Amino acid sequence: MNFLKIKIILFTIFFVACSESNNSRDNGVVVTRHYLASDVGAKILEEGGNAFDSSIAVAFALAVVNPSAGNLGGGGFVVYFKNNKIFTIDYREKAPIKSFKDMYLNSEGNVIKGLSLESYLASGTPGTVAGLIQLHKDEASMSLEKLIAPAIVLANEGFKLSEFQAQNLNKYAKKFKKNKEAEKIFVKEGGWQKDDLLIQKDLAKSLSLIATNGSKAFYDGDITKKILNDFKENEGIFIKEDFLSYEIRKLEPLCGAYKSYQICSMPPPSSGGIAIIQMLNILENFDIKNLTHNSLEYIYLLKNIMSFAYADRSVFLGDPDYFNIPVNELISKDYAKKIAKKIKIKETSQVQPGMLFKESDETTHFSIIDKWGNSVSNTYTLNSAYGSGIVAKGTGILMNNEMDDFSQKPGYPNLYGLVGSEANKIEPKKSPLSSMSPVIVTKDNIPYLITGSPGGSTIINSVFQEIINILDFEMSLEESSNKNRIHYQWQPDIIFYEDLRPDILKELEYDFTLRKRKLGEIQSILKTSEGYKGYSDLRRPDGKSIEIHQ
Ligand code: DON
Repeated sequence: MNFLKIKIILFTIFFVACSESNNSRDNGVVVTRHYLASDVGAKILEEGGNAFDSSIAVAFALAVVNPSAGNLGGGGFVVYFKNNKIFTIDYREKAPIKSFKDMYLNSEGNVIKGLSLESYLASGTPGTVAGLIQLHKDEASMSLEKLIAPAIVLANEGFKLSEFQAQNLNKYAKKFKKNKEAEKIFVKEGGWQKDDLLIQKDLAKSLSLIATNGSKAFYDGDITKKILNDFKENEGIFIKEDFLSYEIRKLEPLCGAYKSYQICSMPPPSSGGIAIIQMLNILENFDIKNLTHNSLEYIYLLKNIMSFAYADRSVFLGDPDYFNIPVNELISKDYAKKIAKKIKIKETSQVQPGMLFKESDETTHFSIIDKWGNSVSNTYTLNSAYGSGIVAKGTGILMNNEMDDFSQKPGYPNLYGLVGSEANKIEPKKSPLSSMSPVIVTKDNIPYLITGSPGGSTIINSVFQEIINILDFEMSLEESSNKNRIHYQWQPDIIFYEDLRPDILKELEYDFTLRKRKLGEIQSILKTSEGYKGYSDLRRPDGKSIEIHQ
């Protein structure tokens, strides 16, 4: 053997040893919007569970400790990384079989206010239980009983409300009072206070049934019967078949290259993946690093990029099983180039005020990575805070109002001011178009950034700015969280902002309608030179990131 060969062999041994030890040195991280759910997820990792075990336990725990968004009666999307590959589960709600295009219109063809938000007609068939059980079946290493047990304890014995939660429950008392079951659980005489115990006995029973009987308990069992009975008694349109025929979809993740990174998220029925990849593709045509972050030019550029993505969203996106979506065209680099050519950094646009949407940050995202590098990015929701505000009698389960995400009438804005068309009209068993954007960014096929946010239509832009802050401006997660965000969605023609320098605001005011509001609530994990770090957005007081070193 000559000297060169020995050198090559030694180098190879050294390289393999290094990469193996790197793998085993990786730490776990759990980031959620509620410290109790983060504790549950971290404990599972400490006991040797993987990121999928941890995610299932967290999702069930959030259904108890974060009832405004964590749920059994809603739906969502999970994007995950395992063995160098990205997978997704679409467990979005589906329109009831008896639903139809004009179901929210009166005889004059006008939308009946509130029907798609706070009534027994507001809910789609929930997908959360099916989604979590599928994840369990495919990827978990621990039993379902073990993973649901912490949620059952939290529901049965109760947990102490944080200041934020006590106030939040009080804020929605009027909504709960419209439904006896919800009132019983979520309204307290004289109002809730910090450290009051929220006990949810019926929810504990439902969770126990799921722990024992799995998906059957929710889709063909005791819980199903109770939901169907309650809906029947109150002029809902759910039938048994809605639950029996509910199916999750394992969709190919939508991935795009951005500089040296791979950005992966959900394909339709979420608009998040397409919009974020489309916006990054457009952005690639500009020298963003030479612009000052949140300067006037920077905001003009972002605003213009956002307007193209949201305009396309309103026309082309919906449930892929019902509408032919030009996905490849929308995320092609050529299309992005064409759009980029149209963008002049400073342009004015005609203001056409639309509906001002309500502020609601009641969806929830969590990010989890384990020591093997398995990563989970999950966003799920009831839609607006506490969904329809209806608890199906005897189940403790709050039902979603996701039907509002459909386009009820062409051009009619939903809760988030989003307009839609044919692509997103109501059809039986179809999923409404979503903005939820769970993202995993990889570099050299290793998870680099795991992120996502609530915020309805603003989710896409919050996640987009998190990606730019970190990949282009090389900010830490904390720095990025501290940066003010903007949001523009083409219609209504309003720039939403958290805060901006007074001179910039003054300039923008010449051309645009502006409105101040909080934007997003990011829960991210980032690979750093010191291992994986998590950060729970400072916009939500109860969030917690836990790092586990084993
Ligand atoms: O799927 C969607 O896009 C919405 N239903 C998400 C709702 C949401 O983020 C509520 N929080 N603001």
